[in-house]
Formats: sequence, structure tokens, C-alpha cells
Amino acid sequence: MLIALCSAKGAPGVTTSGLALALSWPRGVVLAELDPAGGDVLAGYGRAQLSAGGLAELEVAARRGGLDGQLDAHLLRLDGTGRARLLPGLSDPATARHVGWERLATALASVKGGAVDVVADCGRLRAEHFPAAVLRRADAVVVVTGSTLRAVRASAQAVAELRDEGTGLGPGAGALAALVVGPGEPYGEREIGEALGVPAAVLSDGAPAGRLFAQSALLRAARSAAVGLAEFAAAHEVRLAPPPASSASATTAGGRHDR
Ligand SMILES: Nc1ncnc2c1ncn2[C@@H]1O[C@H](COP(=O)(O)OP(=O)(O)O)[C@@H](O)[C@H]1O
Ligand SMILES: [Mg+2]
Repeated sequence: MLIALCSAKGAPGVTTSGLALALSWPRGVVLAELDPAGGDVLAGYGRAQLSAGGLAELEVAARRGGLDGQLDAHLLRLDGTGRARLLPGLSDPATARHVGWERLATALASVKGGAVDVVADCGRLRAEHFPAAVLRRADAVVVVTGSTLRAVRASAQAVAELRDEGTGLGPGAGALAALVVGPGEPYGEREIGEALGVPAAVLSDGAPAGRLFAQSALLRAARSAAVGLAEFAAAHEVRLAPPPASSASATTAGGRHDR
């Protein structure tokens, strides 16, 4: 499954949410940093590791010979087990215009025949070179929002835009969800869900983080959000899948939306 995260203007938290979700994801997962403004995870969580590969090199490889079988070589481990891996984002945002988002979206929608999920950090909606193709191929699109009036208003606008078939952005209204970062300022998860007209989950850093990121309140909260989102995307994936064909070949997440 491909789960795309994005935000409206003035609503930070997409990268942090993507990282927390990936580390908490109930299955094998790749966190793909597709924000055209550049990747952040290696500089922050990765403590300034220099990227040896990632999206920029994957793009070069794809131009030479396609993307088949290329992805693995460009992933880094996010956790000790390797269950969560990272496709590091662009270190130079100027290269975003060279990325073939359509080709990449197709590859990410069916990693290992759908056995590995992809959480894609797509950055801010409407940014230049925004990976709209990834949203179109996604099983679920999650708008990351704050809980202030300003943030909720901007997110409502974003949801309306994603719903609008004419923008060619969303995968359909049913597959939209919101992730509320830091609720209660002043709105809560339920009010925000109602205002946006989409299911909302909360991801908060709650109390001050502990010494270890993995034991922090943020990651504890992420665990339930990750399970909820995985179920949400899976439910949508099942709804969109065509009726079983007579052949035994399984339908993968990548085979569904041909638009
Ligand atoms: N779940 C969260 N709870 C509290 N603060 C957060 C959370 N997520 C992000 N932030 C704050 O927002 C800042 C920007 O987050 P980031 O994830 O990099 O945003 P974006 O990717 O949307 O630019 C972080 O440095 C952090 O201070
Ligand atoms: Mg970011």
C-alpha cells in the first residue's frame, strides 16, 4: 500500500509524522522522502549522515534502465531490524524538477508486490514540483494538520482541493484522512474530523519526550495512529480492487488506478 502524507500551508509536522509512523508501522515499510523542498530525516534523526544514495541517485538509475529492482539499493535502515527503511530525499531541492514522479509513484505503489508498504512524505500541497502523481496512486492520502483555527482552515481548503476531481490530485474522497499534530489548540481530533469531513487521528508529542526517541510519547502515540492508518488504507485498497479474476495472479496495489 502507498500512503501519501502532505500538508496545507502553515501546518508543519509532515516529516516528523512520517518518521513516527514508519517506525511504528505494523508491517514492513519504506519511508519515502519525496518532499520537493528536500529531505530532512538524515540531517535530523540520522544525525547528519551523508546520504550515499536516496531519491536523487535512484532517479539517475531509473533514467538509465528503469526502476525495476533498483529501489532496494537506495534504501537505508531506519531501525535495528530493517523492517522500516528510508528512501532519503533530495539534498538539493533544485533537482526536484528532474524527478519523474509518475514512474516513481508506479514503483512505490507496488513495492515487493505490495508486501511492503510505503509512507511517502510529499511535503506541502501546491509546492513547486509537488509529487501529485504519488497522491493519485496512493491508497490513502493523509493531510497532516495542526489544531489552530488557521491550520484547520488551511487544511479544510486542502481537503476540498484533494476531493475535487478536477485538480487531478486525490485518489478519491473516500481515501482521505487527517492526522492532527498537537491537538487541543484549541480543536480536538473529533472536531477537526468533522470540520474536514474526513476521519482524523491524533499524533502528539504529548508530555516532554524521553531520552530515547523510540520511547518517547510521540512514538507511543504513533503506534495507534499507524495501526489505524494501515487499516484505513487497507480498507480502501480492498474497496478499489477489481473483482477477483479467474487467473490466480494477485492484484497488487500498483495495478488498480490506471488514469
Ligand atoms: N507530533 C508533533 N508534536 C509536536 N510538535 C511537532 C510534531 N511534529 C512536528 N512538530 C514540530 O514541528 C517542527 C517541524 O516539523 P516537520 O515534521 O519537519 O514539519 P514539515 O515536514 O511539515 O516541514 C518540528 O521541529 C517540531 O518542532
Ligand atoms: Mg518536511
